[in-house]
Amino acid sequence: MTDSDAHMETNRRSWDQCVPIHLKSQMYGGFFNTLRNGDHCLDPIIVEEVGDVAGKSLLHLQCHVGHDTLSWARLGARVTGLDFSPPAIEAARNLAAELALDARFVCANVYDTAEAIDERFDVVFASVGVFCWIPDLPRWMRVAASMLKKGGVLYVMDGHPFADLIGERTDVPEGIGIAANYFDRGPHPFGPGPSYASDSPDQTVGDGVEWTHTVGDFVNAVIEAGLRIDFLHEHPRDFFQRFKPMECDDKGRWRLPGNLCDKVPMVMSIRAMAD
Ligand SMILES: C[S@@+](CC[C@H](N)C(=O)[O-])C[C@H]1O[C@@H](n2cnc3c(N)ncnc32)[C@H](O)[C@@H]1O
Repeated sequence: MTDSDAHMETNRRSWDQCVPIHLKSQMYGGFFNTLRNGDHCLDPIIVEEVGDVAGKSLLHLQCHVGHDTLSWARLGARVTGLDFSPPAIEAARNLAAELALDARFVCANVYDTAEAIDERFDVVFASVGVFCWIPDLPRWMRVAASMLKKGGVLYVMDGHPFADLIGERTDVPEGIGIAANYFDRGPHPFGPGPSYASDSPDQTVGDGVEWTHTVGDFVNAVIEAGLRIDFLHEHPRDFFQRFKPMECDDKGRWRLPGNLCDKVPMVMSIRAMAD
């Protein structure tokens, strides 16, 4: 077992612990209620940038408890979700059954997707909290590209690499400043501690290991995987409160405070095509 494999196994254990916490959390409860009310819980930017999925086959990599996967089903896609956490996949299957939505959920490491799923897709999708768990970005992109039909579309949205560069600081007025080395890709061990969706600080999960990737790493990995990039978009607002001093706007997006507001890219989306 390589160091990276051992780190990913550490992360899987921690994700297994996240699942029961997330299933009861306010954050995920909000997503589930939206689905129960007949709506979808995807961000409008994602829906617009991916485009119409009605009647298309869609593979969601690292789908967690399946709320976004099932949102795509609600928008008319034939969906498959994949995640390496058995309790996450069990929760996703239960949610699909409860909502009476047709979906397939597969438990596997994302690196093994091609062996686990004998189908090729119109859309391969992954979003928000995906690439920090991946040591080998070119390998991830090659796997994703291999799951596409000719003419199929890969769409990924995740934290902008610049957002990994900044962090909370007590010595600057905004409370946030440059706090890391852009070129230090990791591994970065952390924890144990509460997850991003824990309702209280005592809801902790075990250690984890993260990696960071630069903007160039993403662009080059997509190109090397043989895909043609349609766009790379950068967004100045975040989907969650990454840092304590961030403020929520009237559309539910999180902005950096004071002088930093709208001056730093927080989220990045890439769409690419298999020609
Ligand atoms: C932050 S969640 C995905 C985010 C999703 N957008 C959400 O809001 O729930 C990250 C997911 O990646 C999964 N994951 C991490 N590393 C993985 C790997 N190597 N193979 C498959 N799944 C992985 C975790 O189990 C977790 O469910």
